[in-house]
Amino acid sequence: MASKEEVFTGAKDIINQLAVIIRTAAIHDPGNVAVTTAVDKFVALMNPLIASEGELTLELGGEFFYINETRIRYSLEYLPNFDFLIREFKKRGLGSIVFKSIMKGADMQTFLKAFISSIFSQSPFETLSEDIAGVHSMSVGKLRKVRDEAEGEFDIRREVKKSYFNAVSYTRGVINKIKSGEKIGIKKAKRVVEGMVDLILEEEQLLLGMTAIKDYDEYTYHHSVNVSILSVALGQRLGLSKKILTELGLVALFHDIGKIEIPNEILNKPTNFTDDEWVIMKKHPFWGVRALLKLRGFDATSMRSAIVAFEHHMNYDFSGYPKTRKRFELDFYSKIISLADQYDGMTSSRVYSRIPMSPDRALSLMMERAGKQLDPILFKFFINMIGVFPVGTLVMLDTKELGLVYQSEAMFLDRPKVLVILNGKGEKADSYIVDLTEKDSNGNFLRTIVKTMDPNKYKINLAEYLL
Ligand SMILES: [Fe+2]
Ligand SMILES: [Fe+2]
Repeated sequence: MASKEEVFTGAKDIINQLAVIIRTAAIHDPGNVAVTTAVDKFVALMNPLIASEGELTLELGGEFFYINETRIRYSLEYLPNFDFLIREFKKRGLGSIVFKSIMKGADMQTFLKAFISSIFSQSPFETLSEDIAGVHSMSVGKLRKVRDEAEGEFDIRREVKKSYFNAVSYTRGVINKIKSGEKIGIKKAKRVVEGMVDLILEEEQLLLGMTAIKDYDEYTYHHSVNVSILSVALGQRLGLSKKILTELGLVALFHDIGKIEIPNEILNKPTNFTDDEWVIMKKHPFWGVRALLKLRGFDATSMRSAIVAFEHHMNYDFSGYPKTRKRFELDFYSKIISLADQYDGMTSSRVYSRIPMSPDRALSLMMERAGKQLDPILFKFFINMIGVFPVGTLVMLDTKELGLVYQSEAMFLDRPKVLVILNGKGEKADSYIVDLTEKDSNGNFLRTIVKTMDPNKYKINLAEYLL
């Protein structure tokens, strides 16, 4: 019997292979050998899983796929196929495919034909559903709405998401190149960061929203990009020029580059570090300097990166590491980046098993550190940017509705837009967005946040709603 783990790892391949057969079938005739081969591969992949699980439901929720209610993690290598499949499902209003019993290649062929032609129908989902009624091993379910989206908003979200993942995948490439000893320059990195800076200037909230989703496969790369985004967004609020913002974003992207020298067994350890392991962890600032000094075309920006890599854990009051004999003024970039770094670190799950801190909890912890480990002035700007209730915070409203902070406005820090996911009766209904600045005819606010709650306790998956 396949264990849950195996279902989990094989799940990415299911999405990938399903995308492959749909793409192939869309351009070839049904009997074509390319289609049959792809279908056979898919069936061979699915049947053992169906046999062991009894039934397999592949479901789309938000921008994620689930298999028997276990979410399939986004995987960078398959990203285009993930995106493709999500779009194709959405176009048809298709929410789920249920694989009810062992299937034959012919079943899948019928499904494919119905799937592809349904797009030409006025009501694609109903047509698809009728067309596969004769296939006993499969059935389909309708897509449930996660939120209402204004015209055009969807495209902006897509653009932001693309640019975010592009940055992550670029970062992965660079880190791996440096790891393997390849000489790299930072010209391309500069272009990637420039793109993000432009987006932050235009769509700050959406890009910040991307950093709120922490549940990815590859922590290091996402962390680097998140810290870069948070730093640039903070820098923007400080009034830094675009040129400086780009340099800051670039420097932030490489702050943890020294971690390439830390063995994966330590880096990905699910439990706490031992004293010996901490000794190794604390060396990454030195190793970062060493890696950055080796960059091709060494210039002022690489110098600045090396300084920040060295200083980013030292703290405002020098209580961190590495320890130096003399105190000095920390680099301005280091002060910004260490704020972003701490916040993202606390709110991320570095490894599967670790439960991340909720954003508001992380902020209140940082509040205690302000003036000691953290620069108090910069922290004020930071909290102003993140909001009193950061994007992704689970909140209870005075209407008893439960929702996620979706977007916050600088003018009304305590009155963000909230995506309601449980209605006043505690039922999971189609979600909707409410604006907490809205008042009734007497001038009273319609809704107010009563308290924040722990999303982990409610098993709420942020990515489903925010991506
Ligand atoms: Fe670090
Ligand atoms: Fe870091």
